[in-house]
Amino acid sequence: MPALASGCGGGDADLANGKRLFTGEGQCGSCHVLARAGTGGRIGPNLDQAFLASRLSGLGETTIRDVVQLQIAQVRRGSLMPEDLVVGDDARDVAAYVAQAAGVPGEDPGGTVAGQPLLGSGDEGKRTFNAAGCASCHSLSDAGASAAVGPGLDDAARGGGTPQPPAEWLRQSIVDPNAVLAPGYRRNLMPEDYAQRLDAREVDQLVDYLLRVGRR
Ligand code: HEC
Ligand code: HEC
Repeated sequence: MPALASGCGGGDADLANGKRLFTGEGQCGSCHVLARAGTGGRIGPNLDQAFLASRLSGLGETTIRDVVQLQIAQVRRGSLMPEDLVVGDDARDVAAYVAQAAGVPGEDPGGTVAGQPLLGSGDEGKRTFNAAGCASCHSLSDAGASAAVGPGLDDAARGGGTPQPPAEWLRQSIVDPNAVLAPGYRRNLMPEDYAQRLDAREVDQLVDYLLRVGRR
C-alpha cells in the first residue's frame, strides 16, 4: 500500500537495511559515532553531535536525510570518507536510518532484521500515546487510559480482524482512520490529521508500542 508508506520522513526506506549497512564491517560505523547504532568510530565526525543542533533547531528528518545522502554521494576531494560507499536504495536506507537516529538518545535494541522494532524501549511510544491525545478517546491498560469514545486498544496487537499484518493495520488506523472503520463506528470520529501532526518516527513508535503492550 504505497499511499501509506510514503508521506513523511523516510518514505519507503528500509530502516533495518539502513542500520545493517551503517554498522557493517568497514562501513559508516567504523568511522562515525552514532549512539543508537552502538558504533564508536573516531575517524569522521560524531554524527550525533553533527545533527543534534539541527534537530533541536527544528530541522526536519527529511532535511537531515538529504544532507546525509548528499554527503555519501559527494564526498569532498581528498576526504578520508570513501565516495559512493553505498548507492541507490542502500544509500537512501542508510540516510533515512541516520536521519531518524542521529542526536536521539538511547540505543536501538536490535532491528537489523526487517520487522523487528528499531526504536527503543517503548517509553517513547507511550509518551506519544498520551501527548497526542489517544488516551482521551481510547482505553489501553498499559497507559492507564480508560476513555471509551473509540474502541479499546488492548486487543489492537491482533490486527482488528483484518487480513493485513497488525503493524500495517495499526499504522493505517492512525494515519488514515477512515480507510477501515471499526465495526459500529461512523466516519470522522477519530482525528484525520495525525499523519501531519506526528512525524514518521512517532508513528513507528506508537505502532511498536501498541504491538508490544497489546494482548496477542
Ligand atoms: C573511512 C572513514 C569513513 C567512512 C567509512 C565513512 N565516513 Fe563519513 N566522514 C568521514 C570523514 C573523515 C568525514 C569528515 C568530512 C570530510 O572529510 O569530508 C565524514 C563526514 C560525514 C558526514 C558529514 C558530517 C558533518 O559534520 O557534516 C556524514 C553525514 C557522514 N560522513 C556520513 C557517513 C555515512 C552515512 C557513511 C556510511 C555510508 C560514512 N559516513 C562512512 C569518514 C568516514
Ligand atoms: C477524538 C477521539 C479519538 C482520538 C483522539 C483518537 N482516536 Fe483512535 N479511534 C477513535 C474512534 C471513534 C475509532 C473508531 C472509528 C475508526 O475506526 O476510525 C478509532 C479507531 C482507532 C483504531 C482502530 C481500532 C479498531 O479496533 O478498529 C486505532 C488502532 C486507533 N484508533 C488508535 C489511535 C491512536 C494511536 C490515537 C492517537 C494517536 C488515536 N487513536 C486517537 C477515536 C479517537
